Amino acid sequence: MDYVAIARKYRPSTFVEVAGQEVIGRTLANAIRAQRVHHAYLFTGPRGVGKTSTARILAKALTCAEGPTPEPCGVCEHCRMVTDGNHPDVVEIDAARFNSVETIRELADNAAFQPVRARLRIVILDEVHMLSTAAWNALLKLVEEPPPHLKFIFATTEVDRVLPTVVSRCQRFDFRALDLDTIVRRLRDICAAEGRSLPEPVLARVARAAGGGMRDAQTMLDQLIAVSDGGDIGADLDLLLGAARSAEVAALLDGVVAGDPKSAIESLDRALVGGVAPGTLLDQLIDQVRGVVLAQACGHDTPLVRRLGLDPERVAAQAGSVDPARALRMAQVLLHAQGQLKFGHDPRLAIELAVVRLAQTAQLVDLETLVRRLERLETPAQAGPASPRPR
Ligand SMILES: Nc1ncnc2c1ncn2[C@@H]1O[C@H](COP(=O)(O)OP(=O)(O)OP(=O)(O)O)[C@@H](O)[C@H]1O
Ligand SMILES: [Mg+2]
Ligand SMILES: [Zn+2]
Repeated sequence: MDYVAIARKYRPSTFVEVAGQEVIGRTLANAIRAQRVHHAYLFTGPRGVGKTSTARILAKALTCAEGPTPEPCGVCEHCRMVTDGNHPDVVEIDAARFNSVETIRELADNAAFQPVRARLRIVILDEVHMLSTAAWNALLKLVEEPPPHLKFIFATTEVDRVLPTVVSRCQRFDFRALDLDTIVRRLRDICAAEGRSLPEPVLARVARAAGGGMRDAQTMLDQLIAVSDGGDIGADLDLLLGAARSAEVAALLDGVVAGDPKSAIESLDRALVGGVAPGTLLDQLIDQVRGVVLAQACGHDTPLVRRLGLDPERVAAQAGSVDPARALRMAQVLLHAQGQLKFGHDPRLAIELAVVRLAQTAQLVDLETLVRRLERLETPAQAGPASPRPR
């Protein structure tokens, strides 16, 4: 059986399937329905959020034997050829690799011809920010006044590097980085289609690590499935991300909470000796404390904790045993250490000191508590009836 990467296998094939970009899909569908398709589109946005997928869906929508239709059939010869990348009238060029003036001039010359099989010719130019001004000059006239049979779809991750004259000739769509829930939902659907069931915190962590990119999330899911041998998949993910085992991070914080620097430092040491980068461990620790703060502020069953990919029970237990003011102070100490890590010479030292300091905060009385105690001492005098001022 041929193996197809998840990110390719689950490329969306209809506008509706392009998750998180609903407004764009709807606008394009409406334009097709109203027969008001613009002659040049510019798709911008971060990596792996659906630009090329949408460009291909639009190409199918316009060339489909049933079309033009906002819902291309997906099975006619045109749809299939677009999907397979061999439609004679749909040209897709990666401008990052093919950006010589000659290539673009040739493209422009060919595009002016009538279509061979479909009713339109469609030129999809990816990574257009890589085109030189000279290359654009070979194309600009055509983009400005294309023959009726020609449509352009440009895509780029760096719209600021595209000539303003080009941008102003296009209808522009800004694709968004995808939010966590959108990615998790898609990953869950893919897992179901693959006959797998992954724990929700694991999916949440994959989505977070992908930073808003659907392709990255799906690639990571692919790797995770490949590396997993049916054991603890959370631990597999830790390994994949170069992170400390989640249980170890939680144990570290347990040591801190209990005011036991020895146990905390030992956990820390185990993680670092195991090859975890100090910065990664610190991020994880910050997440754990953040979970505690969120659980205290929003209740132990808040979805915010689950979205961090943390073990809700463990977080709840810690949230119950730390004073909220102390939890906040712990977060501050860790964030401070994060700053030091960036500029300091010895990352391990920064994180060790932070952990010891955290464990000590168990014994410290915070400023707010002190102020409150002082106020209580002072209040009786102030609270009495206002005495008349002596004359
Ligand atoms: N919005 C989305 N909804 C569902 N799947 C998506 C979405 N965006 C990306 N994907 C997945 O990621 C893969 C790559 O998407 P696509 O090629 O459309 O990204 P792109 O925005 O063109 O990225 P790049 O800037 O790197 O070219 C798709 O095959 C699909 O599996
Ligand atoms: Mg692309
Ligand atoms: Zn079709």
